[in-house]
Amino acid sequence: MPAVLAAVAAAVRTPPDGLPITVPCASKLVAGKGRGFLQSVLHARGIIKRFGSILALAHVDLDVYPGEVVALLGDNGAGKSTLIKILSGVYRQDGGTLHIEGQPVRFADPMEARSLGIETVYQDLALAPHLDIASNIFLGRESLRKGWLGALGFLDRRSMREDAGVKLAQLKAPVKSVRQTVDQLSGGQRQAVAIARAASFGTKLIIMDEPTAALGVEESAKVLDLVGEIKSRGIPVIFVTHTLPFAFAVADRIVVLRLGRSVVSLATAETNINEVVQWITGSKSVDHIAELQGHRG
Ligand SMILES: Nc1ncnc2c1ncn2[C@@H]1O[C@H](COP(=O)(O)OP(=O)(O)O)[C@@H](O)[C@H]1O
Ligand SMILES: [Mg+2]
Repeated sequence: MPAVLAAVAAAVRTPPDGLPITVPCASKLVAGKGRGFLQSVLHARGIIKRFGSILALAHVDLDVYPGEVVALLGDNGAGKSTLIKILSGVYRQDGGTLHIEGQPVRFADPMEARSLGIETVYQDLALAPHLDIASNIFLGRESLRKGWLGALGFLDRRSMREDAGVKLAQLKAPVKSVRQTVDQLSGGQRQAVAIARAASFGTKLIIMDEPTAALGVEESAKVLDLVGEIKSRGIPVIFVTHTLPFAFAVADRIVVLRLGRSVVSLATAETNINEVVQWITGSKSVDHIAELQGHRG
C-alpha cells in the first residue's frame, strides 16, 4: 500500500475496544476493512439535497456509533446545517438513504425524528423567550394534571418545574429558578436550556448545530461539558462547530464536509488541526491522494 494511502488508512479509527469504524467517504481507500459488528445509530449514505438550482448536498455519507461524539466540520456553506435538518426531519433529502439502528427511515417532519429519540439543538435554539425555563424544556410535550383537570387540558406546572430543575442539575447546569423567563438568561444559559431539552428527550441521538457560535470562552467550555455529560450517558452526539479546538476537545471523531460532500472521517486522537484544515480547505482530498497514488505508479 502506498505510504499516503497507508497514512489515510491509519486515520481510520479503531477504538480501544477494537471495534472498527469506517471512513464514510474515503471508504474506497479502506475497501476490505471489515465493518465489524457494531450497529450504527445513524447510517446515512449518498444524501443529496437541492434547493432549486443549488446543490446543497451533493453526496454525504455519515455514520454515528453508540456513545461517540462526532464533530461535523466544514467551511460556511459546506452543507452542515442542511445535513442536520435532514437528519432531524426538517428537510427531506432528494436522494440517498438513512438508517436508524439498522432500520430505513424517511422523516416526513421533525416530530417523526423526535419520536425516534433524535433531538436537535438548532442554531437559533428555537426557544420561546417569554416563557419560563420549565415551559421551554417541555415545549410541545407538556405534562397534564392527573384526573379530570388533565382531561380538560390543565398543565401540571409543578411537576414540570421540578423535572426541569432536576434535568438541569443532572446536566450540571443549575439555574437560579426554573421560573425565570428565557429572555432573562445569558446566551450560555439559553444554550444550556436548549441542550437540557434535547437531553431530556433525546434517547438515541443528539444533534447540535454550532452551539458555541454566540458564546464566550467560559460559556463555550460549559457547553463542551454538557456534551461530555450527554456522552457519559452513552448517547451519541453530532456537534457542528467552526472552532477546531472545540472539536478536538470534545469529539471522538471528526467528519469534514466540503462543497456538499463528506470528504473524510478521522479519529480525533489520530489527527491534528493542520490536517483537518487541509481537508476543510480542500488542499487535502481523496482525489488528491488518488493523484499522488497514480504518480507513484
Ligand atoms: N433554504 C435554502 N434555500 C436555498 N439555499 C440554501 C438553503 N439552505 C441552505 N442553502 C444553501 O445550501 C448550501 C449549504 O448551506 P448550509 O447547509 O447552511 O451550510 P453550512 O451550515 O455548512 O454553513 C449553501 O450554498 C446555502 O446557501
Ligand atoms: Mg450552518
